[in-house]
Amino acid sequence: MRRLPDPVRILLISGSTRSGSTNSAALRTAHAASVEGVETELYDRLAGLPVFNPDDDFDPLPPAVIELRERISAADGVLFCTPEYAGALPGSFKNLLDWTVGGPEMYEKPVAWVNVATEGRGGHADASLRTVLGYLHSEIVEPAQRRITVPRDAVGEDGLVVAANISSDLEQVLRAFADHVRGEATPS
Ligand SMILES: Cc1cc2nc3c(=O)[nH]c(=O)nc-3n(C[C@H](O)[C@H](O)[C@H](O)COP(=O)(O)O)c2cc1C
Repeated sequence: MRRLPDPVRILLISGSTRSGSTNSAALRTAHAASVEGVETELYDRLAGLPVFNPDDDFDPLPPAVIELRERISAADGVLFCTPEYAGALPGSFKNLLDWTVGGPEMYEKPVAWVNVATEGRGGHADASLRTVLGYLHSEIVEPAQRRITVPRDAVGEDGLVVAANISSDLEQVLRAFADHVRGEATPS
């Protein structure tokens, strides 16, 4: 059993490197939300990670990899939001996940993801992410899983999602995630 986390710290990782990304906007909006008992942190170093190579997975590790692993370890859970590219995960995002294979960081780590694609799209990304997280032995927080469509024109100039109903749906995700993490923990 984990310690009782208060606040519950959730690391937000977008699978998109696109500047006007709807996935990144959703996570930025979640980060800007104020949800009692939840502290979020945005990870925005995806494009700075080196290409995974098992030969490089030894000390001294690349600094960007050390940082990624430390930030995952320090979080009580990870919330992803990723587009689908060619029926799977974007290569850069899969690269990030590959850097966590076999390590302790993602093992039994509570994880969830929000799919911001329009209905009927992005399903292969969901399936692919579920498969990869299964290999990592992460714990998928089913009550926090959501499809919250974010159209491109819903992203404002400040990079946040302008629609209030989307922000409130994202807040519900954070609340459901945190409730689940707290429900599993024991007071220390
Ligand atoms: C190279 C590429 C491949 C894509 N392949 C798919 C796909 O297989 N299925 C799908 O639903 N959307 C696909 N899309 C559409 C993206 O998922 C969509 O543009 C999404 O909004 C991108 O996320 P972002 O706004 O966070 O960058 C693709 C987009 C690109 C650029």
